[in-house]
Amino acid sequence: MMKTQCVVMASEGADESQVDRANGIDVRGVEVRFANGFYGLKQSSLTIEPGSFCTLLGPSGSGKTTLLRTIAGLLTPSAGKISIGSNEVTNLPVQARNIGFVFQNYALFPHMTVLQNIEYPLKLHKWPQDDRRRRVHEILDLIELPHVADRAVGDLSGGQQQRVAIGRALVYHPALLLLDEPMGALDRRLRQQLGADLREIQQRTGITTVYVTHDQEEAFILSDKVAIMDGGEILQYDTPAELYFRPNSRFVARFLGEANIVEVKKLSAAADGRVSATTRLGEVLLKSVISHVDEGASRSIVLRPEDLILKTSNQAGPEQASPIPVKIVKELFLGSRCLVTVSDPAGDALLIECTRAQVPSPGSDVWLTWNLASAVLIDR
Ligand SMILES: Nc1ncnc2c1ncn2[C@@H]1O[C@H](COP(=O)(O)OP(=O)(O)O)[C@@H](O)[C@H]1O
Ligand SMILES: [Mg+2]
Repeated sequence: MMKTQCVVMASEGADESQVDRANGIDVRGVEVRFANGFYGLKQSSLTIEPGSFCTLLGPSGSGKTTLLRTIAGLLTPSAGKISIGSNEVTNLPVQARNIGFVFQNYALFPHMTVLQNIEYPLKLHKWPQDDRRRRVHEILDLIELPHVADRAVGDLSGGQQQRVAIGRALVYHPALLLLDEPMGALDRRLRQQLGADLREIQQRTGITTVYVTHDQEEAFILSDKVAIMDGGEILQYDTPAELYFRPNSRFVARFLGEANIVEVKKLSAAADGRVSATTRLGEVLLKSVISHVDEGASRSIVLRPEDLILKTSNQAGPEQASPIPVKIVKELFLGSRCLVTVSDPAGDALLIECTRAQVPSPGSDVWLTWNLASAVLIDR
């Protein structure tokens, strides 16, 4: 059975009229050092827009839970400041932060009904019965479970249980909704459904939401902005499209799908204020104009497999890179697309994604090009 817990941490005496459901979050230079001296979070800053959906995305151990628990007040930072709305909360205890929290691994009260589970935080805060019932029914409508209100939670599916957990986290009008891998135990189809439901609930309530996952697709579907984390650091914080098309580091480029990463040996000025990079693929002209060329920086170029173009002639189109002769090493047919591995003049492999019709027939000479705008320069 799916285990789920929602902890409701709401401030005493908050009522509907006082609740500002569009609180932003500001994390400024926050650092978390554990008792054993290990830094779970290194100096990190993050501004989450009021009413937006932000996801912390990174591999296991990257510090996602540490950052989320610090925002909640379950961990105390060793440096830095956290504000919710216009209030600094760095030293406020968890109960005073008015936060709804949903985790993966803790149980709702399985023998209580859906209604009783959702009502629980309101009882704890001694709401009068009429007000409780009215609010619980609003939540049941929001999570689209009014028809199972009187069923025991333990009899529901995993996805339904997580909707109850989300409902219970929202019942007390929290200022923020924080979720830590809430769909980790669900199968793929249920995750997609619950993800869509969660996004709709978030948009209808307008509650500022921070969501933790290690699943890139989930992060991209749900979020306004995503913070990519690794080794206790936020490497990049941006919209999904910016992260994908303008990664700022090798790690981000590789973490978000396939990427060909080509080391830059030298950067030099080219015509029209553009930049030319010397690489194993020869001189690569970059569309991006950079104002400052730091000689010492170790830079690379990212070329996404779907941006690489295979041709049977060495004629470049307008705004395309000079074609490079390559050899096809491997072709993987995946149905709607093919993944082709080629070897470049230096003997290194490059991955190309195309349709089957775009794969040159065996024995033909093959060249590789790309639209200049698709090559991204990164400096980490
Ligand atoms: N209480 C603790 N004491 C020492 N190290 C911890 C503690 N909690 C977490 N860590 C370590 O901090 C790092 C980040 O953990 P966590 O934030 O849970 O990662 P994530 O949620 O991204 O998987 C991990 O290396 C983890 O082992
Ligand atoms: Mg975690």
